[in-house]
Amino acid sequence: MKKRTFAFLSAALMTVAMTVSCCGESQPSSDNSQADAVIANIMNRKSVRSYTNDTIPAADMEIMLRAAVAAPTGMDVRPWHLVVMTDKSKYAELFEGNFNMEKYMQAGAVVIFCADTTVTRPPRDNPNGPAVTTPNAIWRDDMGACTENFLLAAEALGYGAVWTACYPFPNNMEPIKNYLNLPGNIVPYSVVPVGRPAGDNQPKDKWNPERIHYNGF
Ligand SMILES: Cc1cc2nc3c(=O)[nH]c(=O)nc-3n(C[C@H](O)[C@H](O)[C@H](O)COP(=O)(O)O)c2cc1C
Repeated sequence: MKKRTFAFLSAALMTVAMTVSCCGESQPSSDNSQADAVIANIMNRKSVRSYTNDTIPAADMEIMLRAAVAAPTGMDVRPWHLVVMTDKSKYAELFEGNFNMEKYMQAGAVVIFCADTTVTRPPRDNPNGPAVTTPNAIWRDDMGACTENFLLAAEALGYGAVWTACYPFPNNMEPIKNYLNLPGNIVPYSVVPVGRPAGDNQPKDKWNPERIHYNGF
């Protein structure tokens, strides 16, 4: 682990310990290395916007995708459809003229996180009845968790990635919908370039005690 990163992490873990102490405990509730590694991975995740041009082995990509779909999902609906673009000529074509995305052409892959905005299942009051299709009011929440899980897995495997906005911006969504020929109920939610990081990327310290409220606002 790099020195700067380690210093940042130590400070973060110390802060966690102090916070726990103000809640009545004197020690963090966990002191095992597995917990430390998980917390370190969360604290070290950062947006990475430049890549080395290396490809990503399929096995690594599968780990990231499996982590993504391990996310919590309201009513266990699992609205995600993940489109993995590994053919650079295709994603160059898709993102041609797109300011946001043109700079990510060195990424090993671009993953488009799409969501089914509907739910098809038997009615709640008649579990054995015929399935009906209704809007899913909370698909965005599921997709945020799914995208973040992917970013965390990328960090853990030594890749760099960045969450780029897609939904709800028509300029970002429409070219993807057209290129992928998405059905009307499937929406592109986020777009994540991922690859081996080029350059020195450091996590930001976002901790602000003023934003933490105990037992009231
Ligand atoms: C919903 C969402 C949309 C984002 N859209 C973009 C984007 O379009 N382009 C980009 O470069 N970064 C985008 N980001 C990344 C943020 O800029 C980044 O997370 C933020 O600056 C904090 O930095 P960090 O990820 O390194 O902690 C987005 C992040 C989120 C959560």
